[in-house]
Amino acid sequence: MGKQLEVKSLTVGFRSGREVHNAVSNVTYYLNRGETLCIVGESGCGKSVSVSSILRLLPESSTVISGEILFGGIDLLQAEEKTLDQIRGDKISMIFQEPMTSLNPSMTIGRQLIESVNAHERVPKEKALDLCKRMLTEVGIHDAERCMNAYPHEFSGGMRQRVMIAMAMICKPEILIADEPTTALDVTVQAQILSLMRKLKNEYGTSIIFITHDMGVVAEMADDVIVMYAGEIVEKSSVTELFTNPKHPYTKGLLASLPHIGEKQNRLYSIEGTVPSLANMPAGCRFKQRCKEKCDACNVHPDLYKSGEGYVRCVLYSRGDDL
Ligand SMILES: Nc1ncnc2c1ncn2[C@@H]1O[C@H](COP(=O)(O)OP(=O)(O)OP(=O)(O)O)[C@@H](O)[C@H]1O
Ligand SMILES: [Mg+2]
Repeated sequence: MGKQLEVKSLTVGFRSGREVHNAVSNVTYYLNRGETLCIVGESGCGKSVSVSSILRLLPESSTVISGEILFGGIDLLQAEEKTLDQIRGDKISMIFQEPMTSLNPSMTIGRQLIESVNAHERVPKEKALDLCKRMLTEVGIHDAERCMNAYPHEFSGGMRQRVMIAMAMICKPEILIADEPTTALDVTVQAQILSLMRKLKNEYGTSIIFITHDMGVVAEMADDVIVMYAGEIVEKSSVTELFTNPKHPYTKGLLASLPHIGEKQNRLYSIEGTVPSLANMPAGCRFKQRCKEKCDACNVHPDLYKSGEGYVRCVLYSRGDDL
């Protein structure tokens, strides 16, 4: 196994007038070789910003305030653009929530796939074509020949997402970053895409960082899980530990809001209140306004405490007790 990618104390801010608000604060995690790490949390908590930093695909208005992202002995945050270009798509590739933002509407799927193949090594045309068709078949597209000649708009959302996965996997990357790749799809298609990603992981040994806000997806995909809240990691643990012994009150809330099979679903639990805005972050624990277990000690910003095999940012665990 071993660590394949390490993100250390990453802090990313956005400029807003003269101020800078941190969207991601002091985030540290690592990805083990051949494993799937899920990052989960409500909209706006910093999931995309924290993974877009890996390939330096952050929005213009952002600024990396501190941190290191180590991959193969280099810090991706400091690496030259040339080095990063060699890593993008070849060693680390990324799939996004909405495939149309990353597919070129005016180019056939075949041409786009061939460009991805050739971006890193020149392959004879016949061989490249063959590789593309095989990859399309691999992602469950039956008529690969026809697909190669089609344009993105000729496909449904699920098919486009398959094409995106084919494009991301064609260079057999060591790491695949998938930012909510199934959120826009209906449930059956979502299940197919998830099983496809598991298959690729098992066959190619690809390590995966998978972002979702759906705990059901976490249960299916993850080896390890990071729970984020308001730009911070609030809990880190193995998937089994997270589901059997969730610690942070926010994680408990997320799990309570999961529907259970056989239960009436008209009374789905949801966590009351909303995430504080970046410009107005409360001092102390960022979850305290919404927390059922808050106490005076929550006015001090909690560290990430070790608890059992995992970590939790909650004062209830400050003594290392497994409460
Ligand atoms: N382009 C931007 N300009 C200004 N602020 C931004 C921008 N993108 C993100 N942010 C800020 O960073 C925070 C984190 O955004 P991010 O996209 O990482 O959230 P997320 O967890 O991926 O949410 P979602 O589940 O909706 O995709 C947001 O709450 C927002 O305040
Ligand atoms: Mg996002």
